[in-house]
Amino acid sequence: MKFNAVKGMRDFYPEEMRLRNYILDAWRRVSLRNGFEEYDAPILESLELFTVKSGEEIAEQLFSLTDRGGRNLAIRPEITPSLARMVAAKINALPRPIKWFSLPRLCRAERPQRGRLREFFQWNIDVIGVESVQADAECIFTLVDFLREVGFSPDDVKVRVGSRPVVMSLLKREGVTEEGMDKALLALDKRPKIPAEAFEAMLREIGMADSSISGIGDFLDTPSDEIVPRIAQSGLSGAEKDIEDLRELETVLTAMGVKDYIAFDLHIVRGLAYYTGVVYEAIAEGERALAGGGRYDNLLEIVGGPACGATGFGMGDVVLGLLLTETGKIPAGCLKGTLEYFVIDAEDGTFETVLEIVSKLRGKGASAEYGFKRQGVGRQLKEADRRGAKHAVLVQKGGLAVKTLATGEQTEMSVAAFMKTMES
Ligand code: HAM
Repeated sequence: MKFNAVKGMRDFYPEEMRLRNYILDAWRRVSLRNGFEEYDAPILESLELFTVKSGEEIAEQLFSLTDRGGRNLAIRPEITPSLARMVAAKINALPRPIKWFSLPRLCRAERPQRGRLREFFQWNIDVIGVESVQADAECIFTLVDFLREVGFSPDDVKVRVGSRPVVMSLLKREGVTEEGMDKALLALDKRPKIPAEAFEAMLREIGMADSSISGIGDFLDTPSDEIVPRIAQSGLSGAEKDIEDLRELETVLTAMGVKDYIAFDLHIVRGLAYYTGVVYEAIAEGERALAGGGRYDNLLEIVGGPACGATGFGMGDVVLGLLLTETGKIPAGCLKGTLEYFVIDAEDGTFETVLEIVSKLRGKGASAEYGFKRQGVGRQLKEADRRGAKHAVLVQKGGLAVKTLATGEQTEMSVAAFMKTMES
């Protein structure tokens, strides 16, 4: 019998594992320096936690099961509902603002394609308990801080910022009813990815007139710099505070020096149903979104907690990994092994000394390896190179030589003197 990995699920051979660790280390480093604390949640949750307000699209992509007790469960497709559940359960005991991050492994039964798999890691940054747009700015700043950390310039990746309530006011003015709203938003979210006729058909289906559909298209296409003044002039009722939020967001992000990475874009409404305010996606030209998020002020209440301001985003490792690899942005050393010493018996009768040195090096916390097979020095040096070792230690009867493999530089010393260098 022959087994393959399940469709869309991922094997991580050591080479892929190095890229995964490079990404996860950078996510954690950037989270911590921006003042976020780490949390995690279970892999399995009640099915309903994800169907209650995540939206149609994600509900269709759940890996769900019934356990032996007949309970309906699902593997987490995202962590935001779990976060809301956890915070709601302890809301009075948690000091605010809650600034938390997580690096969960998630599953969605999507059609596997470039940038989308059925299993992925997702960096989550969230601020809970803050109503003001300052919290949205904090999340966006952290997102940009990461983009800069891994070497993306504002020309490589833009954070495209929209406002769900502004677009909802616009849709309402064009006759979209409360019942049709989620479908209309889903159509707008899909607009850049589907043919114009399919988009128009989705809006016609919820009863929109052709003139309204083209009016909305024009409005959404407003260039970034003109969006805030244009919405302000359009006299959209009920969206005054949201326009003010966009202005304030721009002021804060300008003061923090990351305005170059930001573009306002009303196409961004997000596919998930729980967003209530500012929404954004990090996008590299021609690629699926690298990250997405926004404000979701009602989710805590929906999962049984009090009303509480909440905002954040998620970034997956798949599009990010492709972009980093294809643009050569991963520092060379990160994809090689991280071995410090490869110890070689350079003369017959020194193998026991090799074992002794390896054991002592490991005991001092240095990474050290040796070849299981007794073979010539040349072969062992090749092996040291293949393993990405920084130094080869060539052991002879009278002493040893430490060779730096990158430069070929070699220093000779006694075994005792070498071990002493480990102590400093
Ligand atoms: P999302 O837009 O569904 O948002 O996912 C965010 C990011 O996760 C995407 O931009 C993408 O990088 C990655 N992603 C999503 N699905 C897949 C997939 N099938 N394969 C690979 N990568 C994928 C959320 O999940 C929200 N819960 C984010 C959030 C946190 N909002 C507020 N806080």
